[in-house]
Amino acid sequence: MVLEVLQATTAYFKDHNTENPRLNAEYLLAHVLARKRIELYLDFERELTETELGPLRDLVKRRGAGEPLQHLLGTVEFCGLTFLCDKRAMVPRPETEQLVQLVQSTIHNPQSTILDVGTGSGVIGLSLAAEFPDAKILAVDASNDALALAQENAAKLGLSHRVRFLRSHLLENVEKDFDLIVANLPYISTRDRDTLSPDVLHDPEIALFAGERGDELIRELIAQAPSRLRPGGMLALEVGLGQSEALLSALAEKNYRDIYSKNDYNGVTRFLFAGYG
Ligand SMILES: C[S@@+](CC[C@H](N)C(=O)[O-])C[C@H]1O[C@@H](n2cnc3c(N)ncnc32)[C@H](O)[C@@H]1O
Repeated sequence: MVLEVLQATTAYFKDHNTENPRLNAEYLLAHVLARKRIELYLDFERELTETELGPLRDLVKRRGAGEPLQHLLGTVEFCGLTFLCDKRAMVPRPETEQLVQLVQSTIHNPQSTILDVGTGSGVIGLSLAAEFPDAKILAVDASNDALALAQENAAKLGLSHRVRFLRSHLLENVEKDFDLIVANLPYISTRDRDTLSPDVLHDPEIALFAGERGDELIRELIAQAPSRLRPGGMLALEVGLGQSEALLSALAEKNYRDIYSKNDYNGVTRFLFAGYG
């Protein structure tokens, strides 16, 4: 029955050092039964059929081997919206939801023009499109796979007419003028490759690694953004652990103003904001 399967699956995940073993068990069982997680609690005694147990065993094995939960579910919740999620783009992280919330509080003009650089599955640009119905939004990525997924997400959310997608290395194919440029670019150093958890290595390489230092792409964007920002426009960045100080200096050197940073929920200085012009 449901309760026993949850207990056995939780124990299996514990053995395999899967984070949040009970929660993972609940998500996968709810997925197989096409129920909400909370509904499992109303049906603890329900017996499971072999047609339900077969697919569950397969998913549990894959999760135990490190495949991300969101890939197995095929979706992820982000800023209250449900996005498709697969290996074509990075699994969106909770920190990035925080970036979107911080960015939202800086947008005072509802008709802002917004650029999301390195859009991945589209979460930042599409969440902002949902929140600001009159904003004009462009989302770019260097990966065709990511752009394909982002466009599927736009269609699923009924936002295709609101967000334009474009393949571009940083701002190469982008014309001006934006009120806001927001980016969660790759920021892991190639030297840290061996220290990453197996979950992370299911994300595409292009979404993770920037170069030897880790902050190369962010630095390049800091240099390019002034030419695409309107006077008084803003750049908002998510950055890696330990990168904020050097990047704050880089922003100052490039003559940005009103520069400030914010911590994520773990106390890491993770978000940088800077005005220009
Ligand atoms: C860390 S992921 C973030 C994805 C998404 N914005 C999110 O927050 O979940 C970085 C994204 O930047 C893209 N990217 C990598 N190099 C790029 C480049 N030179 N120009 C534009 N996008 C790039 C990757 O394909 C990936 O989708």
